[in-house]
Amino acid sequence: MESYEQFLEEMKTKLRDVVPEPEIYIKAEIAYEINRLKQERNAVILGHNYMEPALFHSIPDYVGDSLGLSRIAAQTDKDIIVFCGVRFMAETAKILNPEKTVLLPAARAGCSLAESITAGDVRRLREQFPGVPVVSYVNTYADVKAESDVCCTSSNAAAVVESLGVDTVIFLPDEYLARNVARETGKHIIFPTKSGWKADATLDYQLIGWHGRCEVHEQFTVQDIEDIRAEYPDVVILAHPECSPEVVAASDFSGSTSAMIRYVQDVDAPRYLLLTECAMGDNIAAANPEKAMLRLCRVRCPHMNEITLEDTLAALQKTQYVIEVPEEIRLRALRAVERMIAIG
Ligand code: 13P
Ligand code: SF4
Repeated sequence: MESYEQFLEEMKTKLRDVVPEPEIYIKAEIAYEINRLKQERNAVILGHNYMEPALFHSIPDYVGDSLGLSRIAAQTDKDIIVFCGVRFMAETAKILNPEKTVLLPAARAGCSLAESITAGDVRRLREQFPGVPVVSYVNTYADVKAESDVCCTSSNAAAVVESLGVDTVIFLPDEYLARNVARETGKHIIFPTKSGWKADATLDYQLIGWHGRCEVHEQFTVQDIEDIRAEYPDVVILAHPECSPEVVAASDFSGSTSAMIRYVQDVDAPRYLLLTECAMGDNIAAANPEKAMLRLCRVRCPHMNEITLEDTLAALQKTQYVIEVPEEIRLRALRAVERMIAIG
């Protein structure tokens, strides 16, 4: 393991434009201890792209989007997986690699999309639309995945829907992601309500959505984009597909968190604007100091924000909070997650 002085210098260099120096000193000490303990406990740390910059750039062995981190979780041979992300991500790691101890550093760390739908809702939809396959976004809990035929993430949603090769698909629970997939695949979409759905043979639809929303991405508007373009006509705008279809249509690129990071790294532009969770802009700015990043940073995801260096240290010291998924649910959810991973 490198010396503390070396580690501190690296953090100072990487974070100098995004984290105040006194904070770097405090965080570097905690991060160094986490890295020591990680080795002692034979643990791997996975960090979602939305982790705050001091954590993102110091302790994860792997960083990435939901799909990338699921793949790594499935393959790791370490004893412990510490998931610096939200609960549904840690659950997906447990579903894929049940022999491992999976730790989430915050007791809950939810997600407005995962909270928006229950397993009972999925069963009711299946009754209303018999024989129609269910695609669930990974931003759902294990019991919802268990009721689904296949999962998807923001990086493969349209490909998963098209891979089914059927006329009609139930796509849950993100209304905006569903509308974006409908736009991309040319499908018509309907939204049944919780109180029920009367079959209507006159309607032409191929996608059946749900009313879940990401509380972060739903806040960006077309007006925001127009205002920024008026001030910076040469800006390249990137939007996560959890933004509304109007926002995605008014942007220059839409993709998963990792796809947006790759875009900024690979495509030269005078300046970039990211319509996504705040911390990711800081993380990209720290990794690409030569690129001009504009910030429209209104909202930090309150759930991702629950994951701190302090709590990650406590997670490794006290082996908390252990993620469990009942075996009967896990096995059914596994089919849906593995089917997604096979599609890509
Ligand atoms: P990604 O799969 O693109 O990382 O997105 C996860 C998420 O929760 C976005 O809000
Ligand atoms: Fe859920 Fe939105 Fe937070 Fe992602 S950013 S974890 S979708 S609430």
